[in-house]
Amino acid sequence: MSGKIGRNDPCWCASGKKYKKCHEAFDQKLELLRQKGLPVIDHDLIKTPGQIEKIKESCKINIAVLDYVQEHIAAGVTTEEINTWVHQETVKHGGIPAPLDYEGFPKSVCTSINNVVCHGIPCEEEVLKEGDIINVDVSTIYQGYFSDSSRMFCIGQVSPERERLVQVVKECVDIGISKVKPWTPIGNMGHAVHVHALENGYTVVREIGGHGVGLEFHEDPWVSYVSEENSGVLMVPGMIFTIEPMVNMGSDKIFTDEEDGWTVRTEDGKPSAQWEVMVLVTEDGCEVLCY
Ligand code: MF3
Ligand code: CO
Repeated sequence: MSGKIGRNDPCWCASGKKYKKCHEAFDQKLELLRQKGLPVIDHDLIKTPGQIEKIKESCKINIAVLDYVQEHIAAGVTTEEINTWVHQETVKHGGIPAPLDYEGFPKSVCTSINNVVCHGIPCEEEVLKEGDIINVDVSTIYQGYFSDSSRMFCIGQVSPERERLVQVVKECVDIGISKVKPWTPIGNMGHAVHVHALENGYTVVREIGGHGVGLEFHEDPWVSYVSEENSGVLMVPGMIFTIEPMVNMGSDKIFTDEEDGWTVRTEDGKPSAQWEVMVLVTEDGCEVLCY
C-alpha cells in the first residue's frame, strides 16, 4: 500500500488529507509488523471513515429492529411472527434482512430457543412459552453495508439456572469488549471470554465463532472464543468484527440438524445462550456499533 501512494497524494481512506498526514504512519506500522511475521489482516478489511459511517447506519437499523422485537416478544408469540416483525421493520427502515436467502437460509432472522445453539429457523408451529430463553439474531444490509447483532430474551419467569446462563453470556461479551485494544492479538479477547464462561461452570462452542463484518456479511478474520492468549490476528484501528460467544450450560458438543441443514443444537439437550455485538477497533480501545 505505502509503495503505491505518493506521500503527497490523497490518503486511501478518502479523508481528503495528504497520505503523509493521514494513514502513512499507520501503514508503515502494519507493514513492519507483517515483516516481523505477526499476523495482520488484509489491508482492504480496514474500514475507511466513509465506510464506517455507512456501516453505522446499517447498525442503527439492526438496533431498531432488535428494540422492536424486545418490545413485543412474549409467551404465545410464534417464531414466524418474530420473522415477520424483523422483515417488516428492516424494510421499513430501508434495509434488507441479510439472512434471507443467505446460502439458502429460508427466513429473515435466526431464532434459537433453549437447546438450540444458533441458526434456528422461524416457523409457525414454534410458540414461545413461559420459561423459554431465546436468541434473536438480526442482520441488516443497508445500501450494501452489513450489520449483525443478537440478544437473548427470557420469556416470562425463567428458572434461575437459565437466567444465570443468559446473564453470564452477556458478561462474557462485556469482558470481550473490554479486551479489544489496538495492536494486541484477538486471541486475548477470545481467551478472556472463555475464562469467564469456564469460571461459571459453562462451556463455549468451539466450531462456530464470530467474524469480520461490514462490507460483507462474513469477512475475515474468523473469531474464536476458546482461543489462547497471544494468538490470532492483531486488532488494528478500523477493523470491525463481532463478539458472539455461544455458551452452553452443559457440554460444548453440538450438532447440526440433518433435515433442515441449519439448526444447531447442543448434543446433551441442555440450554445454550448467545449475545452478539459488533465492535470497531479504535486508537484507544473500541466502539460498540450494535448491541
Ligand atoms: N447472524 C449469524 C451470525 O452471527 C449468521 C447467520 S447466517 C444465516 O453470523 F444464514 F443463518 F442467517
Ligand atoms: Co455474526
